[in-house]
Amino acid sequence: MAQATAPEVIVETEGKIGIVTLNRPQSLNALSIAVVDAVIEALGGFDRDPKINAMVLAGLPKSFAAGADIGEMKGVTGAAGAEKQLARHLSHWDKIGRLKKPIVAAVSGYALGGGCELAMACDMIVASETAVFGQPEVLIGVMAGAGGTQRLTKVVGKSLSMEMNLTGRRLTAREALSFGLVNRVVPVESFLSEAKKLAHSIAAQPPLAVQAAKASVLAAVDSKLSEGLVFERQSFFRLFETQDQKEGMKAFFEKRKPVWSGN
Ligand code: HXC
Repeated sequence: MAQATAPEVIVETEGKIGIVTLNRPQSLNALSIAVVDAVIEALGGFDRDPKINAMVLAGLPKSFAAGADIGEMKGVTGAAGAEKQLARHLSHWDKIGRLKKPIVAAVSGYALGGGCELAMACDMIVASETAVFGQPEVLIGVMAGAGGTQRLTKVVGKSLSMEMNLTGRRLTAREALSFGLVNRVVPVESFLSEAKKLAHSIAAQPPLAVQAAKASVLAAVDSKLSEGLVFERQSFFRLFETQDQKEGMKAFFEKRKPVWSGN
């Protein structure tokens, strides 16, 4: 009997977390249009699902993603042609960055080009000891197009981002940790379980407070301090409209664990 081919994107749930796994091993998880379409559909679905509080976006142990699919780009000619063929594709990285619920990237092996940009569009990164991060687009005659000159610079600073974007220099997992690009480095065998653990620990918190805090941290990246502080203050005040605020503070004085309703 013919074997069904494994899907290129695997979508699962585990308690209150949604897990999306890139599964295109023959091309080291190159991010084709079809793969990224499936990723955004799955993450968007989890973002709208009231039973899900946090997400994990995972790669395979050998590769998170070795970039956008070069095969799909090599025939593209002209700025207008590139925009026509790739604008919608690239917009998905921005969409991931705008989802309400937190996403933990589980990165092992290559996170290059669009792969590095995909990990950075998530909110946190758990890296295996073999993870390598880089923006090597210059080596194939182009440059980063989905946040690699922007998000990377905001995290690691101008000098290192310049070097990575202008020479294709890659960072090891330990270097990435030292520059604040990743949250932690763990053995390859446990990168996925550690990412899930982090997502579960977020999913156990009151979801409206988590989402408000995520939006507020992102506002810090995106705006000047005075504007970010105003945004933070408004989000803080709004949380006093929630039942979880009442429950959290009541439980504190009753010396018990709060039970979150998500309202
Ligand atoms: C298509 C890719 C690919 C990619 C690897 N493969 N990366 N196919 N697009 N980005 C394919 C190879 O063609 C090869 O297929 C198989 O995966 C294994 O790759 P090898 O090169 O044989 O493996 P290895 O020698 O171990 O080298 C691994 C590597 C190298 C260092 C990751 O593959 C590499 O440099 N890949 C390209 C990295 C890159 O330039 N990324 C940025 C892309 S541009 P076959 O059929 O030969 O087995 C980009 C723009 C982003 O991301 C803009 C936003 C979307």
